[in-house]
Amino acid sequence: MSEIRKVSVIGSGTMGNGIAQVFAANGIPVMMVDVQQDYVERGMAAIKKSLEKMAAKGAIPADEVAATLHRIRPTTRMVDAADADLVVEAVPEDFRVKAEVFKTLSENTETRTILASNTSSISITRLAALTDRPDRVVGMHFMNPVPVMKLVEVIRGQRTSDATLAVVVDSAKRLGKTPVEVNDFPGFVSNRVLMPMINEAVFCLMEGVATKEAIDEVMKLGMAHPMGPLTLADLIGLDTCLSIMEVLHKDLGDGKYRPCPLLRRMVDARLLGRKSGEGFYKYA
Ligand code: NAI
Repeated sequence: MSEIRKVSVIGSGTMGNGIAQVFAANGIPVMMVDVQQDYVERGMAAIKKSLEKMAAKGAIPADEVAATLHRIRPTTRMVDAADADLVVEAVPEDFRVKAEVFKTLSENTETRTILASNTSSISITRLAALTDRPDRVVGMHFMNPVPVMKLVEVIRGQRTSDATLAVVVDSAKRLGKTPVEVNDFPGFVSNRVLMPMINEAVFCLMEGVATKEAIDEVMKLGMAHPMGPLTLADLIGLDTCLSIMEVLHKDLGDGKYRPCPLLRRMVDARLLGRKSGEGFYKYA
């Protein structure tokens, strides 16, 4: 089985910087790409903060902070990502944006390079069809926050090879994660089940079934969820939640996946959750 020695991560937002962090923390050099210098710098700052928090708690030795940061190279040039064994794409949940990235990666990386998407819901098969190597395209779906969450949902596209799947499963294990294999259907397992619950919580809020605090409290205490659905939506990003619901609605063609109008209105108002400072709740 070929080993992953170098990784590139495309997108340095909520997920991209976490993904870069976990590879680097496990000794793998990472190229982290975003479209603007201040975005990659913000990504680097988030990684530094996360590592410092872990060191303060004694979860990692203090000297690991600098060592891990040293293994990550921030860049705004996609060509810098070319020389990698594995590329993990973590750009926004928008097919057109991901399609451009996959076409560029297909043209600029060697055919042996595995192209993985961290997509929450978009078809791996459709992204793979845009490349010269559909057998080496796969879903590698990390959970938020990446350094903390154990699961990696590994998605087999229609033409993903067994060898590609094996390499990705193996590298997830090397990161200390637990990979779970699923097939390529809209939302896979995680968001096919999670996102309708979050969407329904937003309907409850819109219809005045209860206050946001009450909705979260019921699900937290009553269902033993670590956080309520509206708090979780703020953590994920409301734009990402809406995009996932739109994929479920369109690709499964069932009205039960209709995005809640309040979710849409909040995204229109750029109330995106933690990343914009306000969603259902306000953040300092
Ligand atoms: P985000 O909005 O926080 O970050 C996306 C980043 O990609 C931004 O920094 C943006 O500037 C950058 N970007 C946009 N176009 C680019 C391009 N052409 N090349 C390089 N960088 C580009 O989004 P987030 O939340 O990190 O989501 C990324 C992916 O991960 C999405 O597919 C999302 O569905 C998925 N995901 C998100 C989770 C979450 O909780 N937020 C959980 C699991 C998966």
